Amino acid sequence: MIEFYNVYADIDTKIILSNISFRLVKGEFAYIIGPSGAGKSTILRMIYMDLYPKEGMIIIDKYSSAKIKKSDIPYLRRGLGVIFQDFKLLHDRNVFENVAFAMRVTGTKTPEIKRRVFKVLAEVNLSNKRNHYPDELSGGEKQRVAIARAIVNKPFIILADEPTGNLDRANSYEIMEILERINRQGTAILMATHDEHLIKKYPHRMLYIKNGTMVER
Ligand SMILES: Nc1ncnc2c1ncn2[C@@H]1O[C@H](COP(=O)(O)OP(=O)(O)OP(=O)(O)O)[C@@H](O)[C@H]1O
Ligand SMILES: [Mg+2]
Repeated sequence: MIEFYNVYADIDTKIILSNISFRLVKGEFAYIIGPSGAGKSTILRMIYMDLYPKEGMIIIDKYSSAKIKKSDIPYLRRGLGVIFQDFKLLHDRNVFENVAFAMRVTGTKTPEIKRRVFKVLAEVNLSNKRNHYPDELSGGEKQRVAIARAIVNKPFIILADEPTGNLDRANSYEIMEILERINRQGTAILMATHDEHLIKKYPHRMLYIKNGTMVER
Protein backbone atom coordinates (compact mmCIF):
# COMPACT_ATOMS: atom_id res chain seq x y z
CA MET A 1 0.00 0.00 0.00
CA ILE A 2 2.84 2.37 0.93
CA GLU A 3 6.38 1.31 0.11
CA PHE A 4 9.66 3.23 0.35
CA TYR A 5 12.66 1.69 -1.43
CA ASN A 6 16.06 3.17 -0.52
CA VAL A 7 14.69 6.68 -0.56
CA TYR A 8 16.91 9.78 -0.33
CA ALA A 9 15.40 13.23 0.08
CA ASP A 10 17.00 16.63 -0.30
CA ILE A 11 15.73 20.16 0.14
CA ASP A 12 17.81 22.93 -1.49
CA THR A 13 20.52 20.32 -2.26
CA LYS A 14 20.87 19.50 1.46
CA ILE A 15 20.36 15.76 2.11
CA ILE A 16 17.57 15.40 4.70
CA LEU A 17 16.92 11.64 4.58
CA SER A 18 19.18 8.76 3.50
CA ASN A 19 18.32 5.26 2.42
CA ILE A 20 14.85 5.03 3.95
CA SER A 21 13.00 1.76 3.32
CA PHE A 22 9.74 0.71 4.95
CA ARG A 23 6.35 -0.61 4.11
CA LEU A 24 2.90 0.04 5.55
CA VAL A 25 0.17 -2.50 4.95
CA LYS A 26 -3.58 -2.02 4.72
CA GLY A 27 -5.19 -0.92 7.97
CA GLU A 28 -1.93 -0.40 9.88
CA PHE A 29 -1.35 2.31 12.54
CA ALA A 30 2.24 3.57 12.79
CA TYR A 31 4.01 6.56 14.30
CA ILE A 32 6.89 8.49 12.77
CA ILE A 33 8.89 9.84 15.67
CA GLY A 34 12.11 11.77 16.00
CA PRO A 35 13.43 15.14 17.13
CA SER A 36 12.47 18.46 15.56
CA GLY A 37 14.01 18.79 12.10
CA ALA A 38 14.52 15.00 11.82
CA GLY A 39 12.46 14.76 8.63
CA LYS A 40 9.05 13.54 9.80
CA SER A 41 7.07 16.07 7.77
CA THR A 42 9.38 15.42 4.81
CA ILE A 43 8.36 11.72 4.81
CA LEU A 44 4.67 12.69 4.82
CA ARG A 45 5.21 15.23 2.00
CA MET A 46 6.81 12.52 -0.11
CA ILE A 47 3.75 10.29 0.45
CA TYR A 48 1.36 12.93 -0.91
CA MET A 49 3.99 13.65 -3.58
CA ASP A 50 4.53 17.27 -2.71
CA LEU A 51 8.21 16.31 -2.78
CA TYR A 52 9.86 13.61 -4.91
CA PRO A 53 12.71 11.43 -3.72
CA LYS A 54 16.14 12.40 -4.99
CA GLU A 55 16.97 8.72 -5.27
CA GLY A 56 15.02 5.53 -4.67
CA MET A 57 11.35 4.92 -5.27
CA ILE A 58 8.04 5.32 -3.45
CA ILE A 59 4.91 3.32 -4.24
CA ILE A 60 1.59 4.69 -3.00
CA ASP A 61 -1.38 2.51 -3.89
CA LYS A 62 -1.12 2.03 -7.68
CA TYR A 63 1.20 5.01 -8.22
CA SER A 64 4.98 5.11 -8.34
CA SER A 65 7.08 8.22 -7.72
CA ALA A 66 9.15 7.23 -10.75
CA LYS A 67 6.25 7.14 -13.21
CA ILE A 68 3.39 9.23 -11.86
CA LYS A 69 2.12 12.02 -14.15
CA LYS A 70 1.33 15.45 -12.70
CA SER A 71 -2.27 14.97 -13.82
CA ASP A 72 -2.57 11.83 -11.66
CA ILE A 73 -1.56 13.55 -8.42
CA PRO A 74 -5.11 14.75 -7.55
CA TYR A 75 -6.32 11.14 -7.90
CA LEU A 76 -3.50 9.84 -5.72
CA ARG A 77 -4.39 12.46 -3.09
CA ARG A 78 -8.05 11.42 -3.03
CA GLY A 79 -6.89 8.19 -1.46
CA LEU A 80 -5.09 10.08 1.31
CA GLY A 81 -6.58 12.10 4.16
CA VAL A 82 -4.14 14.67 5.52
CA ILE A 83 -4.32 16.54 8.83
CA PHE A 84 -1.90 19.10 10.23
CA GLN A 85 -0.95 20.64 13.56
CA ASP A 86 -2.42 24.01 12.50
CA PHE A 87 -5.67 22.51 11.09
CA LYS A 88 -5.56 24.44 7.77
CA LEU A 89 -9.30 25.19 7.66
CA LEU A 90 -10.89 27.74 5.31
CA HIS A 91 -11.78 30.68 7.55
CA ASP A 92 -14.43 32.18 5.28
CA ARG A 93 -16.49 28.96 5.18
CA ASN A 94 -18.52 27.27 7.86
CA VAL A 95 -17.87 23.78 9.21
CA PHE A 96 -20.24 22.10 6.75
CA GLU A 97 -18.58 23.84 3.79
CA ASN A 98 -15.05 23.11 5.00
CA VAL A 99 -15.86 19.41 4.84
CA ALA A 100 -18.12 19.55 1.75
CA PHE A 101 -15.42 21.40 -0.20
CA ALA A 102 -13.24 18.28 -0.26
CA MET A 103 -16.11 16.39 -1.95
CA ARG A 104 -17.18 19.11 -4.39
CA VAL A 105 -13.84 18.94 -6.17
CA THR A 106 -14.52 15.25 -6.92
CA GLY A 107 -17.74 16.13 -8.77
CA THR A 108 -20.05 14.38 -6.28
CA LYS A 109 -23.74 15.35 -6.51
CA THR A 110 -25.14 17.70 -3.85
CA PRO A 111 -27.57 15.29 -2.07
CA GLU A 112 -24.79 12.71 -1.74
CA ILE A 113 -22.40 15.40 -0.40
CA LYS A 114 -24.97 16.46 2.18
CA ARG A 115 -25.61 12.89 3.32
CA ARG A 116 -21.92 12.09 3.62
CA VAL A 117 -20.91 15.38 5.34
CA PHE A 118 -23.67 14.96 7.95
CA LYS A 119 -22.44 11.41 8.58
CA VAL A 120 -18.76 12.35 9.11
CA LEU A 121 -19.65 15.38 11.26
CA ALA A 122 -21.68 13.02 13.47
CA GLU A 123 -18.65 10.68 13.66
CA VAL A 124 -16.48 13.49 15.07
CA ASN A 125 -19.34 14.69 17.29
CA LEU A 126 -19.76 18.08 15.61
CA SER A 127 -23.26 17.88 14.10
CA ASN A 128 -24.41 20.79 16.26
CA LYS A 129 -21.55 23.04 15.04
CA ARG A 130 -22.07 22.59 11.31
CA ASN A 131 -23.09 26.23 10.75
CA HIS A 132 -20.26 27.68 12.83
CA TYR A 133 -17.13 29.28 11.36
CA PRO A 134 -13.64 28.04 12.31
CA ASP A 135 -12.91 31.18 14.38
CA GLU A 136 -15.87 30.25 16.61
CA LEU A 137 -14.41 26.83 17.48
CA SER A 138 -11.94 25.58 20.08
CA GLY A 139 -8.66 23.99 18.96
CA GLY A 140 -10.00 20.49 19.60
CA GLU A 141 -13.13 21.25 17.58
CA LYS A 142 -11.06 22.66 14.69
CA GLN A 143 -9.00 19.49 14.59
CA ARG A 144 -12.19 17.40 14.56
CA VAL A 145 -13.39 19.40 11.52
CA ALA A 146 -10.04 18.67 9.87
CA ILE A 147 -10.49 14.95 10.61
CA ALA A 148 -14.01 15.01 9.15
CA ARG A 149 -12.60 16.67 6.01
CA ALA A 150 -9.81 14.09 5.84
CA ILE A 151 -12.16 11.08 6.00
CA VAL A 152 -15.04 12.39 3.89
CA ASN A 153 -13.71 10.86 0.65
CA LYS A 154 -13.02 7.49 2.36
CA PRO A 155 -9.22 7.47 2.06
CA PHE A 156 -7.26 4.27 2.61
CA ILE A 157 -4.85 6.14 4.91
CA ILE A 158 -4.80 9.20 7.16
CA LEU A 159 -1.49 11.11 7.25
CA ALA A 160 -1.38 13.11 10.46
CA ASP A 161 1.45 15.61 10.99
CA GLU A 162 1.58 16.30 14.75
CA PRO A 163 -2.22 16.50 14.93
CA THR A 164 -2.18 17.07 18.69
CA GLY A 165 0.72 19.54 18.66
CA ASN A 166 -1.48 22.57 19.44
CA LEU A 167 -3.88 20.82 21.81
CA ASP A 168 -4.02 20.26 25.55
CA ARG A 169 -4.04 16.78 27.00
CA ALA A 170 -7.82 16.27 27.15
CA ASN A 171 -8.27 17.39 23.54
CA SER A 172 -5.29 15.27 22.44
CA TYR A 173 -6.92 12.18 23.94
CA GLU A 174 -10.17 12.95 22.20
CA ILE A 175 -8.37 13.25 18.84
CA MET A 176 -6.51 9.98 19.51
CA GLU A 177 -9.74 8.17 20.40
CA ILE A 178 -11.24 9.31 17.08
CA LEU A 179 -8.14 8.21 15.13
CA GLU A 180 -8.20 4.83 16.92
CA ARG A 181 -11.84 4.35 15.98
CA ILE A 182 -11.20 5.28 12.34
CA ASN A 183 -8.33 2.80 12.34
CA ARG A 184 -10.49 0.00 13.79
CA GLN A 185 -12.90 0.63 10.91
CA GLY A 186 -10.06 -0.24 8.49
CA THR A 187 -8.31 3.03 7.60
CA ALA A 188 -4.53 3.03 8.03
CA ILE A 189 -2.96 5.86 10.06
CA LEU A 190 0.56 7.27 9.77
CA MET A 191 1.11 9.91 12.43
CA ALA A 192 4.18 12.09 13.03
CA THR A 193 4.56 13.08 16.66
CA HIS A 194 7.07 13.70 19.41
CA ASP A 195 4.59 13.30 22.24
CA GLU A 196 6.09 10.38 24.21
CA HIS A 197 3.12 10.39 26.57
CA LEU A 198 0.62 9.77 23.75
CA ILE A 199 2.79 7.05 22.23
CA LYS A 200 2.80 5.21 25.58
CA LYS A 201 -0.92 5.58 26.10
CA TYR A 202 -1.76 4.52 22.53
CA PRO A 203 0.98 2.06 21.56
CA HIS A 204 1.54 1.31 17.87
CA ARG A 205 4.39 0.50 15.53
CA MET A 206 7.15 3.12 15.71
CA LEU A 207 9.32 4.33 12.84
CA TYR A 208 12.08 6.36 14.41
CA ILE A 209 14.07 8.94 12.42
CA LYS A 210 17.42 10.13 13.60
CA ASN A 211 20.47 11.45 11.77
CA GLY A 212 18.64 11.14 8.47
CA THR A 213 17.89 7.43 8.66
CA MET A 214 14.99 5.34 9.92
CA VAL A 215 15.00 2.52 12.42
CA GLU A 216 12.10 0.51 13.83
CA ARG A 217 11.77 0.53 17.58
N1 LIG B 1 11.02 24.46 2.91
C1 LIG B 1 12.21 24.15 3.46
N2 LIG B 1 13.33 24.83 3.11
C2 LIG B 1 14.53 24.52 3.63
N3 LIG B 1 14.73 23.54 4.52
C3 LIG B 1 13.68 22.83 4.91
C4 LIG B 1 12.35 23.09 4.41
N4 LIG B 1 11.50 22.23 4.97
C5 LIG B 1 12.24 21.46 5.80
N5 LIG B 1 13.54 21.82 5.76
C6 LIG B 1 14.62 21.18 6.53
O1 LIG B 1 14.49 19.78 6.39
C7 LIG B 1 14.76 19.12 7.61
C8 LIG B 1 13.61 18.22 7.97
O2 LIG B 1 12.46 18.99 8.16
P1 LIG B 1 11.05 18.38 8.58
O3 LIG B 1 10.09 19.50 8.52
O4 LIG B 1 10.76 17.18 7.76
O5 LIG B 1 11.33 17.94 10.10
P2 LIG B 1 10.32 17.42 11.20
O6 LIG B 1 10.87 16.12 11.72
O7 LIG B 1 8.94 17.39 10.64
O8 LIG B 1 10.45 18.51 12.34
P3 LIG B 1 9.35 19.11 13.37
O9 LIG B 1 9.22 18.10 14.47
O10 LIG B 1 9.96 20.38 13.85
O11 LIG B 1 8.09 19.32 12.62
C9 LIG B 1 15.03 20.21 8.63
O12 LIG B 1 16.44 20.30 8.77
C10 LIG B 1 14.48 21.46 8.00
O13 LIG B 1 15.23 22.57 8.39
MG1 LIG C 1 7.25 18.46 11.07
